[in-house]
Amino acid sequence: MKKPMRILSGIQPSGILHIGNYFGMMRPAIALQDEGEALYFIADYHALTSLRDPIALRENSRRVALDFLACGLNPDKAALFLQSDVPQVTELAWILSTVTPVSRLELAHSYKDKVARGAAAAAGLFTYPVLMAADILIYDSDIVPVGKDQKQHIEITRDIAARINETFGSARKGPILKLPEPRIQKQTEVVPGIDGQKMSKSYGNTIDIFGDEKETRKRVMSIVTDSTLVEAPKNPDASTIMQLYGLVASKDEVQEMREQFRKGGRGYGDFKKQLFEKLWDYFAPMRKRRDEILRDKNYIDDVLERGARRANAIAHEVMKRVRAAVGL
Ligand code: TYM
Repeated sequence: MKKPMRILSGIQPSGILHIGNYFGMMRPAIALQDEGEALYFIADYHALTSLRDPIALRENSRRVALDFLACGLNPDKAALFLQSDVPQVTELAWILSTVTPVSRLELAHSYKDKVARGAAAAAGLFTYPVLMAADILIYDSDIVPVGKDQKQHIEITRDIAARINETFGSARKGPILKLPEPRIQKQTEVVPGIDGQKMSKSYGNTIDIFGDEKETRKRVMSIVTDSTLVEAPKNPDASTIMQLYGLVASKDEVQEMREQFRKGGRGYGDFKKQLFEKLWDYFAPMRKRRDEILRDKNYIDDVLERGARRANAIAHEVMKRVRAAVGL
């Protein structure tokens, strides 16, 4: 029998989840839970590169679990767990680091970007992609659903896996590590924030998935627009409002808004109100589910424990193979 495809992805608990996380990664990841064996984790080791508040880290991690479950992750289909509940991943990261060229890591956009914006150039931030490679490779992952900003990290992962295979594999025994494929959805690969740049916690331009109504409305109403007058025609293709509306409205609704943009006679404020209403309705079932989960005190802990057990079983097997191959 053919082995089911293994799908893996992670999300950092460095802040509150936003709709860029949702449309870029969580929604596709949730859809994939029906297509293979899915493993999704909360990247708390990675979050330590930017968050040094133990109470906040613990709270955020639980909150990410809650929000992911509320959005439709089904723990009977997909394992959800904390990265740090599989500490072997740090052992694999060490082994991988011994074949990773520094020059490859120096080219990582994410590192350069963070340091350019004032982050301290810690060794952990620099070797972030090696730990991410270990996250992926320790589960023999086939597919990694992510937003476009993670594409380079998956290329680095493939490169590191190939180096391990070349260095320690043999024609007789076959490859040691499996090379994963990124799965990036064209339409949602970069969800824009309220300033039109990529939506990101670190840019302060997010719309949270589970923000309260007043705050969410405020965020939507502050989407940056040009100064075209109410009566004048507007360009739908250059508009963040249109891009976000496209994520939550039907094809016909999107078409209608596009026509109204072109025709003129309606101001951006009006379009933003319409976007807010759609967005608020879109997440209504998730808010309901979230309230239900919150009423069940042990639910999140049980899910994370079950997920960790499953993840550890796989990681244990892969590590046995890796340790044997490298001579440990
Ligand atoms: P993180 O926590 O920054 O983001 C989680 C996921 O959300 C996607 N995303 C977006 N997609 C589209 N538009 C946006 N504006 C947007 N903002 C965020 C990200 O692409 C990502 O898929 N390094 C990872 C976490 C990680 C990981 C892994 C992922 C650690 N190990 C192993 C996959 C496999 C990160 O920081 O994602």
